[in-house]
Order: sequence, then structure tokens, then C-alpha cells
Amino acid sequence: MFKAAILGCRGRARAHAKAYQHIPVATLASICDMNEERLHEFGDMFEIGQRYTDIHEMLEKEKPDLLHIVTAPVLRGTMQLIRYSLMDTASEHKVPGVIIEKPIAVTGEDWRQIRDLAKRSETKFAVNTQLHFHPKNLELKRDVTQGKIGEIKLIEASSRNPPVDQAPHTLQLVSSYIDNSKPVKVMGQVAGKNQLNSDQPSPDNAIARIEYANGVQASVAFGPEMAARVLPETSNNRHKRVCVFGTKGFVHWRFENWEKFTCDNGYESGGLNYGEEDAIAQIGLTEAMFDWLEDQKKVHPTNLKQSLAEFNLLLGIYQSGLIRHPILLPFDPPENFIQYMKDTL
Ligand SMILES: NC(=O)c1ccc[n+]([C@@H]2O[C@H](COP(=O)([O-])OP(=O)(O)OC[C@H]3O[C@@H](n4cnc5c(N)ncnc54)[C@H](O)[C@@H]3O)[C@@H](O)[C@H]2O)c1
Repeated sequence: MFKAAILGCRGRARAHAKAYQHIPVATLASICDMNEERLHEFGDMFEIGQRYTDIHEMLEKEKPDLLHIVTAPVLRGTMQLIRYSLMDTASEHKVPGVIIEKPIAVTGEDWRQIRDLAKRSETKFAVNTQLHFHPKNLELKRDVTQGKIGEIKLIEASSRNPPVDQAPHTLQLVSSYIDNSKPVKVMGQVAGKNQLNSDQPSPDNAIARIEYANGVQASVAFGPEMAARVLPETSNNRHKRVCVFGTKGFVHWRFENWEKFTCDNGYESGGLNYGEEDAIAQIGLTEAMFDWLEDQKKVHPTNLKQSLAEFNLLLGIYQSGLIRHPILLPFDPPENFIQYMKDTL
């Protein structure tokens, strides 16, 4: 039986914990939060006895096989970037596997530190972009893989939250439809600096045209100005979508519905319960991590190196917009990127 642990017991951690009610090969054995009230509330809710306020102590005593790092990239109320140090701590303690929440980074500096960690660490990291495992997405991906829409001509994807918040989900979805082919070139535009002082600094909006190594191009839009609406009266976080156009048809996954055209069946569409799909997806993402721990060859589809390539693409969109020039990827992001955006936008 695998032993799992969670660091960070605020809202998002509940979805991570609930998945364990459906994973027979593992048990959620311990939790950690420096906020004691939150720690005990969460521990009582999920009946977890082993509770810690210090991450080092938990990793030392519990030796989990899998650690979930469920925090924002910036410690709330401060501007302190915490992704790298928490991942490095897990790596130093030789935790075999880590699932970490998106976004994997915020700036060029933490992206670089995490890229270097990915090169030297023996820990297997996956990023919690669980949309990959939504059952309807998996089904539509099978349609694409089986050639039901012909050859891919273009992928078009969007989300209406600030780019840093939901572009990680959206760009991962694009990757997932093209077997994680790497982005090689991007030309982008960015606008709006209201989010640059937030806990997750980001331009308000971004759009881009992307070229991937397999020759496929994607067109993406993030933020409320240009990203399409899925439903008219829905808050900004509920508009994630991806549409894959082929020579013979298309598949279109949206937050609350889907549609497709295939040669076999013509046009079809239907509704989706995002919450239900998301709960199943969280189980799938976690189980894929245990599969990877058991078998080197079963590399997790949202593994760290892939996520770093997608985040580098997002930074490339920012940079391209700021210098008004296409960018070849991967690229080395400038120092003080957030300040640079504040000065330029
Ligand atoms: N995948 C998704 O669909 C999805 C959905 C919602 C949120 N998220 C992501 O989840 C993350 C935020 O989750 P949240 O709002 O629950 O987190 P948060 O950052 O608000 O809370 C993190 C918790 O971790 C604790 N913590 C932080 N550092 C610690 C340390 N060193 N030692 C002990 N405790 C520590 C804090 O006290 C806090 O309780 C964000 O990155 C967000 O983008 C993802």
C-alpha cells in the first residue's frame, strides 16, 4: 500500500483528499499546514490522525511515497515565491513522487530554479492539470487518435481567468491532443496590468499563435477581453475550452458541454457536469502517479518537464507581446519579468 501526504490544507486540498476514497492502492496517511486551526479542521474532515505543522518533520517521520503540494505559488499575503523551495524540500527528503498544484511557476526566476531542480532531482513530479483526465476529454482525444476527425489542421483554445491562472490548464489540454509535442515558436500579445500586483502576478489578457514541433499550430486566448464565453451568465473561471479542427471534422470540449463532427456520426453534442468530471479526473491524475512510481516507463502525462515547457511557452507569449516579435522556444526568460511587465504595460 502506498502512503500519501498533503502539504497545505486550504480549499483546493479537499479535492486531492477526496480522490483517496477511490484509490485502493494508497492511503492518505498524513497532512501538514502551519495554520493549526486549518490543519485540524481538515484532519477531522478526512479523519487523518498524523498531523504536522512542519514539513521537514512530516517527511522525516512519515516517509510518504507521494506528497501533494497544495499551495499557491506565492505565500498568501506576502510576495514570497514558495514553489521551488517546497519542491526542493521534497527532493532533499527523497520523496519518490510529488503532485504539485498549477501554476508551476509565476516568473522567469522560479521557472529557472524549477527547471534546474527537474534536471538534478530523482523525485518524480507531476503538475495538477487534471483536465487531461476528464472522461469526456479522454473520449474526444481517443476520437482524434483514431483518426475520426482526419489530420489535425488547427487547435483553438481559451480560458477567461488571468493567463497565469488558467493558461496552465488550457496549454496542457492543447498538448494532450498532440501527444505532448513541444512548442517551438510563438507570437503573442498581452494587455492589462491589474493582476500584476496580485498573489499570482500576470497580465490581465494574452493571445497567441503557437507552432509545435509536429507542425500543428494553435491559436489561444486568455483573460476576459478576448477568450470566448462558454455560457453567457457564468463567472470567468468557467470558460475553459479546447477545439481541435481536423481535415474531416472537429472535437470541442468546453467547461459544461461538448460537441464534435466525425465522418462516422456527423454532428453530435451534449452537456457536462464539470464537478463530477473533475472528481473522476483527480482520481485518474493521482492513480497515474502511482503507476509511474511502480513503472519507470509509465511517465505521467502532466510530468514536470512537460509542464515547464508549457509554462515557458506562456512566458514566451508575454515576452513576444512586450518586444513585439516572435519568440523561438524554449527561451530564457528575462530577469525581473514581473517588474518589466509593470513598466511596459
Ligand atoms: N487544479 C485546479 O483545478 C485548481 C483549482 C483551484 C485552485 N487550484 C490551485 O491550487 C492552489 C491554491 O490552493 P489553495 O487556495 O488551497 O492554497 P493556499 O495557498 O491558499 O493555501 C495553502 C495552505 O498551505 C499552507 N502552507 C503554505 N506553505 C506552507 C509551509 N511551508 N508549511 C506548512 N504549511 C504551508 C498555508 O498555511 C495554507 O493553509 C493555487 O495554485 C491554485 O491555482 C487548482
